[in-house]
Amino acid sequence: MKKIAVFASGSGSNVQNIIEFFQKDAFATVVLVLSNNPNALALERAKTLGVDAVVFNKTQLLDSKGVLSQLLQYNIDFIVLAGFLWKFPKHIIGKFDNKIVNIHPALLPKFGGKGMYGMHVHKAVVAAKVKETGITIHHVNARYDEGAIVFQAKCTVDENDTPEEIAQKIHKLEMEHFPTVIKDLLVKNA
Ligand code: GAR
Repeated sequence: MKKIAVFASGSGSNVQNIIEFFQKDAFATVVLVLSNNPNALALERAKTLGVDAVVFNKTQLLDSKGVLSQLLQYNIDFIVLAGFLWKFPKHIIGKFDNKIVNIHPALLPKFGGKGMYGMHVHKAVVAAKVKETGITIHHVNARYDEGAIVFQAKCTVDENDTPEEIAQKIHKLEMEHFPTVIKDLLVKNA
């Protein structure tokens, strides 16, 4: 069974959805949730579902004896970034080549880059008056939001949509697609 680690900084609705999906699928399991934010609801959601949850600081993320050694101790096969807001370090990317994905709440390369997360993205989408937005799941490299795109799904942006309404449409797409895209990648890499 493949072992997945999920990194998150906030609410963790994707963390919960991914854990629950793989609790019903024998191909893989989420064994560890990691957060830079001690107050992240993602940590509580993981613990409630019986998954180990740990907090780390910047030094531990950048030190090869910190987060990386924890990932190796847990024999992690695949890493998912689900609302993780720090840049991912090169030394972990090097050890997990092509085995790290991130979800972004817009159609990259549009509305990506440093500072573009959560509601900032949806506000920018409304301000730009674009007709559609969506989600992007992509491999992670050392630059924000620039790894190879694996999957995109779209939704409309209607004339009077608020950033909050767009957030709801994006949430629905994330819940629907993220776990199955992870599963497909795991099967392909098996
Ligand atoms: C998700 O919408 C995800 O796409 C976004 O953060 C949200 C986390 O929600 N990620 C980014 O903006 C990354 N640039 P969650 O904590 O409820 O899963």
